[in-house]
Amino acid sequence: MYNPRVSHYRALRRSLAKRFSGRGVVHLRGGRPVPRNFDVEYAFRQNSDFLYLTGVEEPGCHLVLDGAREILFVPRVDAHHRVWEGHVPSPAQAKRLFGVDRVMYVDELKKALRGRRVVPPAALRDALDEMRAVKTEGELGLMRRANAVSAAAHAEAMRAAKPGMREYELQAVFDAACLKAGLKHLAYPSIVAAGANGAVLHYRKNDALLKSGDLLLIDAGAELGGYAADITRTFPIDGKFTRRQRDVYAVVLAAQKECIARARPGLISADLHVHSMRVIAEGLKSLGLLRGSTDGLVEGGAVRLFYPHGLTHMLGLDVHDVVGGKRRVLPNPTKVPVRFVARLEPGFVVTMEPGVYFIEALLKDPVLRRKHRGSVNFAKADSFLDFGGIRIEDDIVIRDGPAENLTRVPKEIEDVEAACAG
Ligand code: GLY
Ligand code: MN
Ligand code: MN
Repeated sequence: MYNPRVSHYRALRRSLAKRFSGRGVVHLRGGRPVPRNFDVEYAFRQNSDFLYLTGVEEPGCHLVLDGAREILFVPRVDAHHRVWEGHVPSPAQAKRLFGVDRVMYVDELKKALRGRRVVPPAALRDALDEMRAVKTEGELGLMRRANAVSAAAHAEAMRAAKPGMREYELQAVFDAACLKAGLKHLAYPSIVAAGANGAVLHYRKNDALLKSGDLLLIDAGAELGGYAADITRTFPIDGKFTRRQRDVYAVVLAAQKECIARARPGLISADLHVHSMRVIAEGLKSLGLLRGSTDGLVEGGAVRLFYPHGLTHMLGLDVHDVVGGKRRVLPNPTKVPVRFVARLEPGFVVTMEPGVYFIEALLKDPVLRRKHRGSVNFAKADSFLDFGGIRIEDDIVIRDGPAENLTRVPKEIEDVEAACAG
């Protein structure tokens, strides 16, 4: 079981219970194991809300907040379970470990809730979304550490990458570095994409050969206490950027740094996304890949052929974290389709992850080619189809002043080359 920092979780439970004071009992069910096949289960990862309120990493538990009284329900285990799974804390031990008022068995839950008015799931969902969006200093401490370990793992992968290796060997370097630091869960399956695979946004195969002259894109992060790091770096496999790679990299880096510098409370994330599209459109114009007015390239969608994903998303217990509940829902104020629209607040943790990709499925699409033939230099873009893509992704905390960047992995061209050289 994880994390006896009882006061952190207790404060969050108190704050949730207060919202429903006099309105019913909060009942939250923890995660249950998911079967993989026959009697093998997937590695268990606790439900994010349950983790948020308890830090309990074991499956099959429930939490009840009845006014100021907190009851954790744990599965009753028999000798057979102990033979196969080992020691399970007694209720008295669990009570101390998790700082709740009482520990009962799950088979007693029904009776405990009988005749009680339970907070409706939608209201509970909304309250948790509101609370989880703004991170406490305790949560930020966990996120900082998850980021530091993931950053070191990225740097190790940069040093280790050599032509002739397979993508999964670098995945092994990254994943092992996190595990060796005691972070047993990754926040999502590591994306390790060499050459043209870098243009597959959620590439998963991770089995291709690393070739000299190509780029390697690694999007990977570990989690601590459930809190995710989500970091991407793109670097040259043989340690030196080519001219062409350097040019595209500089465009993505400029967009990312500008957006981090602008990120402030009150700003709407979609406006920041549009800003990143503008920087990328201008950069691609200077490289001769796009032509025309920047407004036209952004609003007409041509830039999306090269940058087809969001700039940012919330980060926390889920890698694509909750966006803060119903009261924070905003209409999209921009003229471009943007999925994540939030007014940034102090304590939000968000990613900043612009990218430029040469994606065959978009660049060779006859409808898109016709639509954007005035804006895109397709002859030139076609010559980049072996390039893959470049994404640079950091995790930042919105603060009253400048944002705090949690991610310290080399990203300036000379620093990346130095990191690759070890
Ligand atoms: N790693 C998934 C993402 O960057 O959103
Ligand atoms: Mn991300
Ligand atoms: Mn990512």
